[in-house]
This record gives sequence, C-alpha cells and structure tokens, in this order.
Amino acid sequence: MTAEISYPENFARFYDVIYAHLRTVDRDYFLRKIKEVHGPALEIGVGTGRFFIDALSGGADMYGIDVSSTMLNQLYQKLGKEHHHRLTLQDARSLNLKKQFDLIVAPFRVFSHIASTEDQLEVLNRVYDHLKPGGEFIFDLYVPDLRLLLNGINEQIDFDGEYAPGRRLARTVTSHSDLINQVSHITMTLNWDDEGERRTESWNLQMRYFFRYELEHLVHRSKLSLKDIYGDYNEDALGPESKDFVVVCHRNH
Ligand SMILES: C[S@@+](CC[C@H](N)C(=O)[O-])C[C@H]1O[C@@H](n2cnc3c(N)ncnc32)[C@H](O)[C@@H]1O
Repeated sequence: MTAEISYPENFARFYDVIYAHLRTVDRDYFLRKIKEVHGPALEIGVGTGRFFIDALSGGADMYGIDVSSTMLNQLYQKLGKEHHHRLTLQDARSLNLKKQFDLIVAPFRVFSHIASTEDQLEVLNRVYDHLKPGGEFIFDLYVPDLRLLLNGINEQIDFDGEYAPGRRLARTVTSHSDLINQVSHITMTLNWDDEGERRTESWNLQMRYFFRYELEHLVHRSKLSLKDIYGDYNEDALGPESKDFVVVCHRNH
C-alpha cells in the first residue's frame, strides 16, 4: 500500500472558500444522482461535504468516509450532531462499513489520490462489496491535457479573493509531471491575512492521472462492470473537448 494522503489543516480550512469558486461544474450532476436513488448512498472522499449537507437536506440517506481527519473535521463543524454517525474516518483502500449502498460516488478526483494499480483495484473491489446488486459507482477524473503535462504549471494563481470580509486569501499552484509513472507533482501555496499578519504555507502532493483505455481495463479487471465513461457531467460521449472522465460502473449481481 502506498502512503495515504492527509490534507494539511489550513488547506482543509480554506477548501470550501476556494472550491465554491473553482469547482461548480459537477454539482447538479452528483446531487441529482444521489436524489434519484431510493436507498442509502455513500460518498468516498467526502471531504468537507461539498455535496453532503445538501444531499442530506434533500432527503438522501447519505453516508461518507474520508482518510483526512482535517477534512472531516470541517464537515463535522457544519453537520448536526444527530448526523455525525454518518461519517467515518476511513481509507477507501480498506473500506469496511457494515452496510451496503444503492449508490457510491467519489467526486472530484478522489481516485487520483490512489497511486498504485494494486490499490486502485482494491478500492474498486471494496466498492463492489459495499454495493447492493444493481447498485452504481460513479467517480470522476480529469482528462490529461498533454500540453499541460509536458509544459507543467509554473506558479499560477488559481484563487485570489477573500475568505472573510477584508481578509485576503490567494493560492498558487506549480506542477510538473512524471510521464512514466503518470504522476503530477504539485505544490500548492496559500497566502492569507491572519490577525494583521501575512501567512504562507505550502503543500506538496502527488496526483495520479489516467487515460481512457487504462480506466476501461482497470474496471474490467475488477469485480465491477463498466457502464460507460462519459466526457462531462451531462453524460455526453467523450470527445476532443472533454475535460473530465465521468466513470459509471455497476454491480451486476
Ligand atoms: C479533492 S477532495 C474531494 C472532496 C469531495 N468529494 C468534493 O467533491 O469536494 C479529495 C478527498 O479525497 C480524500 N481521500 C484521498 N485519498 C483517500 C483515500 N485513500 N480514502 C478516502 N479518502 C481519500 C481526501 O482526504 C479528500 O478529502
């Protein structure tokens, strides 16, 4: 098993502020999928609960796991105590809940944190074991942009705003990719005003990127069946403009 990921405290703290701006494209899709399902649903890598609270308020019988206590702590703070039992600090690679679900989702590139093929297969097979027969598993990944992989990203500011009235927050991203191991080495740096002081913190992380046929083979090697890999959150076919892989799998029996 490769090392697990844990989001540093301040990256978990500012996650919602940053992604309320940077990540909205997937929102309606996952909330609709969760709403359509009649039984319990599980989010793997639930994080700070970008979908979780809305899904619960919409009536879903929603559960979540995450390996980062910093991320889950953000969610606990927003969630009524009566729902705390729905969250478990757990690694997807050793997923073990005494429950089966009609739907399991892993939105926003959770799977990129799973580096080795062995671990990826383990996650897919544990997902299978936690699905009811006929249940669905949906996860997404970005479609690799070959120019970006070759050229890298050099200190690009991807967020510059306020995290509270009058308090500035900016994030800078640098990335270079290892084309043999299909891993991007990313450094994210936060700069923010805190009690009149300027603070800065960096985090180095790795994200595994995937290609289309690799994903197809991976799912075929697991116990899950592949329904389709779509090119966006409208479930349109993959094409040259696609930015996201939306992988829909199911448990046959
Ligand atoms: C980019 S965030 C996505 C969070 C949330 N799904 C969303 O859409 O905002 C990725 C999340 O996956 C979690 N994660 C990474 N590796 C994991 C693993 N092996 N098991 C469970 N969660 C994991 C991280 O801690 C993080 O909260």
